Amino acid sequence: MHWNKVLRIACLFSIPVLATALRAQSVQYFEKGKLWLLSTDHNSYVLAVGPHGELQHLYWGRPLPRGDDLSAPRAVHDLSSFDPSQMLVNDEYPGWGGPFYEEPALKITREDGDRDLVLRYVSHRIQQNDLEIELRDIRDSIEVTLHYRVYPHYGIVRRYATIRNGAKQAFTIESAQSAAWHLPHGTGYQLTYLSGRWAAEMQINHEPIHQGMKILESRKGHTSHNLNPWFAIDAGDAAEESGNVWFGALAWSGNWRITVEQTPYEQVRVTGGFNTFDFAYPLRPGEALDTPAFFAGMTSEGRGSASRLMHRFEREEILPGGAKSRLRPVLYNSWEATEFNVDQAGQELLADKAAKLGVELFVMDDGWFGKRNNDKAGLGDWYANPQKFPQGLKPLIDHVNGLGMDFGLWVEPEMVNPDSELYRQHPDWAMNFPGRPRSELRNQLVLNLARNDVKEYIFNVLDKLAGEYNIRYFKWDMNRSFSEPGWPELAQADQRKLWVAYVRNLYEIMDRLRAKHPTLEIESCSGGGGRIDLGILQRVDVVWTSDNTEAFDRLRIQEGFTEAYAPKLMSSWVTDVPNMNGRSTPLQFRFLVAMQGALGIGANVNRWSPEDSALAAKMITLYKRIRPTVQTGDLYRLLSPQTSDVTANEYVAQDGNQAVVFAFRHSQQYSTPAPTIRLRGLDPRARYGMTSIEGKLQEGQEFTGAYLGGAGIHFNLRGDFDSTAVVLEKLR
Ligand code: DGJ
Repeated sequence: MHWNKVLRIACLFSIPVLATALRAQSVQYFEKGKLWLLSTDHNSYVLAVGPHGELQHLYWGRPLPRGDDLSAPRAVHDLSSFDPSQMLVNDEYPGWGGPFYEEPALKITREDGDRDLVLRYVSHRIQQNDLEIELRDIRDSIEVTLHYRVYPHYGIVRRYATIRNGAKQAFTIESAQSAAWHLPHGTGYQLTYLSGRWAAEMQINHEPIHQGMKILESRKGHTSHNLNPWFAIDAGDAAEESGNVWFGALAWSGNWRITVEQTPYEQVRVTGGFNTFDFAYPLRPGEALDTPAFFAGMTSEGRGSASRLMHRFEREEILPGGAKSRLRPVLYNSWEATEFNVDQAGQELLADKAAKLGVELFVMDDGWFGKRNNDKAGLGDWYANPQKFPQGLKPLIDHVNGLGMDFGLWVEPEMVNPDSELYRQHPDWAMNFPGRPRSELRNQLVLNLARNDVKEYIFNVLDKLAGEYNIRYFKWDMNRSFSEPGWPELAQADQRKLWVAYVRNLYEIMDRLRAKHPTLEIESCSGGGGRIDLGILQRVDVVWTSDNTEAFDRLRIQEGFTEAYAPKLMSSWVTDVPNMNGRSTPLQFRFLVAMQGALGIGANVNRWSPEDSALAAKMITLYKRIRPTVQTGDLYRLLSPQTSDVTANEYVAQDGNQAVVFAFRHSQQYSTPAPTIRLRGLDPRARYGMTSIEGKLQEGQEFTGAYLGGAGIHFNLRGDFDSTAVVLEKLR
């Protein structure tokens, strides 16, 4: 179709429709400027071959309707002998070589000591939404394939690199990054990222980007609670619902690194991939290494929009079942109720109570196997403890299934207690440097899963459990970080491959298990939120957000979580009080906090009063009514616990027919009324019927979307830890 005609038609429609209409193909190549235009509904991304054959990044911003406006990059001259032209252009994937002093995407040392690497464009291939660009060193057959996949509806591009040794001598990779992303030239940018620690994950940081480099990373062997491999950047003018935001997340569950760099030339670059710390990956002739995938996007509609794009993308393109994966069931988990004191009778009693409340998936946590009566023994011995389960797990699982619930089981397969049969048989399987101490954390050591025999052992253990019993769900835990990451069985030069091989083997086990047991689901847990990233999310259905289940703390942890990850993935339990911080919040408050994600119960329900159980049953019924909206709808963060004593979140169903608003007040002062809450994402012309959970608003009221968004709702939240929720149904 001719562009003018497309434009005329598109003018009749709204902006997203216009963008879709204008987006001819998601990947286009223009021979004239030797440039590529990657187009999505939300942004465009342009790269080109520069005058010296280098690959240059040209543009990442609001959608560009046509490639004809674009021109080839011009030659750039050195600014001075200290500011060479190589630093002045945005190199799409800079090798460390020539006069280049900033963060490289690839750094190597050849066997003969030569470390110079200058990459030049060779060729490219386009297939639908995929673009592959071949680069090669100016002298050697050291080849890099840059892979791009465009996800047009989500405004997201996936990048990773394959590094290949086509030369005659070996080289060692010291830095292999997945991508360098360049923002438009300028200063005054702001970086948002997530940091924390055990039981305090996903705290939101927002800070200016200045000249120099900020490093976000994990050196712990897993994603870690301390920093999450996600970023968002804005030009200092973005808010929750307005402004340009560039965002991205790395799909890697091992040592990762993201650097955010502002150069002296007002370039802002985000580079991410394998952590360079202690990294050394030899490639012999003929060998290749794939970096992790780095996903990134751009929106001009604020941070909330960036989150919603990521949420939708994760649900539909990242999760194993994609858009078809089932809604998360209401779960019960035994950990906080019984800790290690699990046995058949006790678990059956909990299961009976849980089933009456409306629970759909019953998960038995730690303590069921080997000599596991506390955290000092048993890890590695994955058979049912004969004192606790004299006839194995089958009677309990049958009981749970008989109550109409699925059964889930806690495992921590990567770990071993020195006091275990496994360790006595295979002390060499634990990561170690021979002759050096083996540091125990929680009395356990990490198995070297980089070894293929360890990988097979773990696969077989889990495969056997999943085959022998009717297990629908593994809660896969990992309760410590690496230490002494030795792999003494390999030649010295290969030992540091452990950082990569461990994660690849972990992924392989999960992939094989899922393929062999198609209905099996997995929860990723690492002492709470120590392993949450897009790599693990391609293999699990849900994550354990935090060991901190204290509802008020959870409001902030959950807010940070949703910056990057979808509410459907966010496992959230109602537990007993007093909880962390010695705090006691009302049961309704705890329920409403947990109902904003994948609801679970982690309380000792044996101790609940009849009133507690009645409230719980009512809340679970309500949750089931709003579950599709919470789990697959669009989230609008209305009031933040960081800046207000009222927190409010709204979820709008995909079809727009239902919306749910949750509101919490933690500490009213001076009798100040709660702020009015203006809703978003509603159809201004539609009428909505509103029902509240406990009559704080008149039942049956109806309002237009315009009123709810303009005048808003006033919730009469009073005192400490008050809470409410309303459900809005679109009226026909
Ligand atoms: C840490 C997890 O985060 C908890 O939920 C629980 O499963 C314990 N491990 C069990 O040891």
